Amino acid sequence: MQTLSRRAAGRGAAIALVPTMGFLHEGHLSLIRRAKKEADVVIVSIFVNPAQFAPHEDLAKYPRDEKGDIRKIRSAGGDIVFIPKAPEMYPPDFQTWVRVEKLSELLEGAVRPGHFTGVATVVAKLFNITRPDVVVFGQKDFQQAVLLRQMTRDLGYPVKYIIAPTVRESDGLAMSSRNKYFDEFGRREAICLYRALITAKQMVKAGIVVCGRIEKEMRSVTLATCPTAKIDYIAFTDFDTLQPRRRVEKVTICSLAVRLHGVRLIDNMRLG
Ligand code: PAJ
Repeated sequence: MQTLSRRAAGRGAAIALVPTMGFLHEGHLSLIRRAKKEADVVIVSIFVNPAQFAPHEDLAKYPRDEKGDIRKIRSAGGDIVFIPKAPEMYPPDFQTWVRVEKLSELLEGAVRPGHFTGVATVVAKLFNITRPDVVVFGQKDFQQAVLLRQMTRDLGYPVKYIIAPTVRESDGLAMSSRNKYFDEFGRREAICLYRALITAKQMVKAGIVVCGRIEKEMRSVTLATCPTAKIDYIAFTDFDTLQPRRRVEKVTICSLAVRLHGVRLIDNMRLG
């Protein structure tokens, strides 16, 4: 992979990287299409990164479809598919980690300790291996996108950093490889996150900007749609610093994490 990307760079080609964990859907493909607009050579990595899963999480059952992924990447304009093996990325004596201090402790980081160190470490390695000029991440995982942007700045990677919009199913559910875990009934109730976010958006439009009030309504909409849902958090934060907001102001993003029917989903929407 290093030789390939250096050769491309030597020809003067601009290189884009789209990191993924595979089982690709339209959300991933939209990032690849965006990358193709920005660069000559688009590298898509597929690596189900063990370092970002806690022991009780779904590493072993995370869905995989390498053949299908390669076909989809090609049709979306990807040029190189990089599929490293876990022992290549983490040899037995591996001992160097990238930790983004503050941003990794909030929201998802508070519920999933160590998760973002696993993410930042693997993405730093992918940057070093592929040496991209452009990288594209999805707003679907907004905290991840903001945290990796911080890492990019802090470590001085010379890349153009793009955060691309969330792609949704026709009923509003944000596309995710994990949606595959649902049966038909669970899938129908999974719409509760989107419904809650839309409710928030409508309240803001109607002039209600106190976050506590909006959160209360979002909780009741979530539970009305999926009575067995467990809400990990509903948060109103500044987009860049992730600091909590009491009122919806400029660049306030609402994010939530919900466990339902054995699956944990996250979603977010910009409110102000
Ligand atoms: P994965 O969940 O496969 O997502 C890969 C990229 O696709 C991320 O940037 C994510 O935000 C984006 N994405 C996922 N669903 C999307 C949607 N519905 N619309 C738009 N973009 C979407 O995120 C990871 O993998 C990993 O943590 C990774 C960054 C690859 C590091 O291991």
